[in-house]
Amino acid sequence: MLNFEFHNPTHIIFGKDTLKELSKQVPQDAKVLILYGGGSVKRFGTLDQVKTYLEGRQIFEFGGIEPNPQYDTLMKAVEIVKQEKINFLLAVGGGSVMDGTKFVSIASTYEGENKEELFSYGTVPAEVAPCLPIGTVVTLPATGSEMNNGGVITSRLGKLAIFSPKAFPVFSILDPELTYTLPETQVANGIVDTFIHTVEQYVTLPSEARFQDRTAEGILQTLIEIGKTTIDNPTDYDARANLVWCATMALNGLIGAGVPQDWTTHSIGHEITALYGIDHAKTLAILQPSIWNVRREQKQAKLLQYAERVWGISEGEIDTRIDQAIKRTRDFFESLGIATHLSDYGITEEGINDIVDALERHGMTQLSETGEVTLEVSRKILEGAM
Ligand code: NZQ
Ligand code: ZN
Repeated sequence: MLNFEFHNPTHIIFGKDTLKELSKQVPQDAKVLILYGGGSVKRFGTLDQVKTYLEGRQIFEFGGIEPNPQYDTLMKAVEIVKQEKINFLLAVGGGSVMDGTKFVSIASTYEGENKEELFSYGTVPAEVAPCLPIGTVVTLPATGSEMNNGGVITSRLGKLAIFSPKAFPVFSILDPELTYTLPETQVANGIVDTFIHTVEQYVTLPSEARFQDRTAEGILQTLIEIGKTTIDNPTDYDARANLVWCATMALNGLIGAGVPQDWTTHSIGHEITALYGIDHAKTLAILQPSIWNVRREQKQAKLLQYAERVWGISEGEIDTRIDQAIKRTRDFFESLGIATHLSDYGITEEGINDIVDALERHGMTQLSETGEVTLEVSRKILEGAM
């Protein structure tokens, strides 16, 4: 097992009727900015409930954070924070709202004039931006943003990740019932995003991290068990609760501690979203089968472990077992209603050049757990994903 540090300070409040806990978690004297997306939380009544539980505090609102949150939009929230001397941020929504709120938290406490400079840090040190405290109310289980310190923001520079040791939410409320109103395709996205977060930290190189491996396999098996059920029966509480908790646990640092991590799928996927606006999870479903096909030798040991422990494939030649595991994975994504080829989304061979150019511009030239996914390998992966 590799050396690691693990620190996760987020207080999780999980279950039915937990929204009311807001009244205890947000300080009485807080000046709160509630941030939300395009209006689903208004339509389904969540925002009204949130405001009821925050009674007594000074409340401001900022709506309109778009899926794949935009820098220019978030900078308007930063202005409100400064003008109104806000001292607590409450994100009510999915990954985009939570990520956007983290950026607002970081940018509001960064003294530099040009907040775009923050992207050059990758991980922004606490002395550069001490961050405002954040709480979250999760309405879409997918990104794990509710229990990690990262966010992905789109600006003129591209769709870029930003981290800060201070950007962990102080608390996150996870009431699975708040997610019942999600359209089917967003639930499918959540399942696939969680699946890929898990394999980015698991289908890498063997490192004798048995607990991490078995926890990753547990998340994958749970997703396979409940995926279709929670799409077809959105109000099946237990199925949805399992999805919500898997999404959080897949990207809160637990399964990634002490193991090599890949993140090729996400790095190429972010470029595809930035260029073509395809949902984050859908880009991952397109890329993952091709990545495993192209890198089957480097990942052989973990692919065989995945085939056996997750799909029960233990007989036959090595390549046949790997082929079967890739096929079962693709079939699983497709069974959730997610198409897995670039051509299904109207991307042509020419589009591949644009994606490779964007990777080059962003320095994504040595991806994966070994750094050997060069631009040439990325091109092969994209060609295999047509
Ligand atoms: O904007 P509203 O009107 O709220 O509608 C949203 C949005 O259109 C809707 N929605 C959310 N909750 C709902 C609901 N509709 C009905 N009922 C509800 N309860 O769903 C749509 C998508 O929301 P979004 O937040 O964009 O989705 P998701 O949670 O999948 O987040 C995607 C973003 O997170 C980033 C992605 O790159 C992308 O920008 N990621 C963040 C990560 C992190 N912070 O660790 C890791 C991930 O790998 C990912 O990159
Ligand atoms: Zn993701």
